[in-house]
Amino acid sequence: MAMDNMTPLQALRWSVAMGADEAIGDEPVDRYAQSAEPAAPAQPAVPVHASASTAPAAPPLASSQGAADSRAAARQADTLAALRLALEAFEGCALKQTATNLVFADGNPEADLMILGEAPGAEEDRQGTPFVGPSGQLLDRMLGAIGRDRTSAYISNVLFWRPPGNRTPTDAEVAACMPFVQRHIALVRPKVLVFVGGAAAKALLERKEGIMRLRGTWYDYRNPDLDVPIPALAIFHPAYLLRSPGQKRQTWRDLLMLRARLAELA
Ligand code: URA
Repeated sequence: MAMDNMTPLQALRWSVAMGADEAIGDEPVDRYAQSAEPAAPAQPAVPVHASASTAPAAPPLASSQGAADSRAAARQADTLAALRLALEAFEGCALKQTATNLVFADGNPEADLMILGEAPGAEEDRQGTPFVGPSGQLLDRMLGAIGRDRTSAYISNVLFWRPPGNRTPTDAEVAACMPFVQRHIALVRPKVLVFVGGAAAKALLERKEGIMRLRGTWYDYRNPDLDVPIPALAIFHPAYLLRSPGQKRQTWRDLLMLRARLAELA
């Protein structure tokens, strides 16, 4: 059906199906009217919708500024509740402006296992809970395979807000959230950390290699808030496993490594 023949609701559904599922500007912009206007005066473009490929680029926030603000805010948080409140008050990461909800954590903060993914997706943003979409369902099954669930694991992300249209987060956005993530890990003090996917592993391990190289090995994770390092393992992201089920065999090996290490440390 041509767009001209669609009802507004059909056009909206079509846009969402095409991936333009985020309202980015406060006010809608009628681009048809704009293009019909002869030589309209130059105005800053404010897209109404953005897909993964058209989502706006980085906020006008220097990474050092966001990171400096977040270091100060994160340092003051002595409990998980205080850290959450600090994030709710934090304005140094522009992702907050387009996200529906802060996605802080799920699971048991007393658990010996802490899992960190990259960033909330659409369903996580809607519910304000990490890993509740299709990747989360597979993550739950992966945990189940080694006798774990959300009562025996604590789950969060490197970013606390969804990047619009699920675009790749910028370095500035990751840097702005990192002091909170470091504080988060230090407050939970798990015995073992699992970094889910290449983006989380690279950001937390400060390594350049991709997940193919990073997985399958234990690392000593360190940060300025920790007095002792924590053993950390990087695994494939469940979203990747959903696309490439052939890699599940490797992940099964990683999960067995994880189970053995948790048993040793129990
Ligand atoms: N992918 C992630 O990395 N984190 C989530 O919370 C959901 C999907």
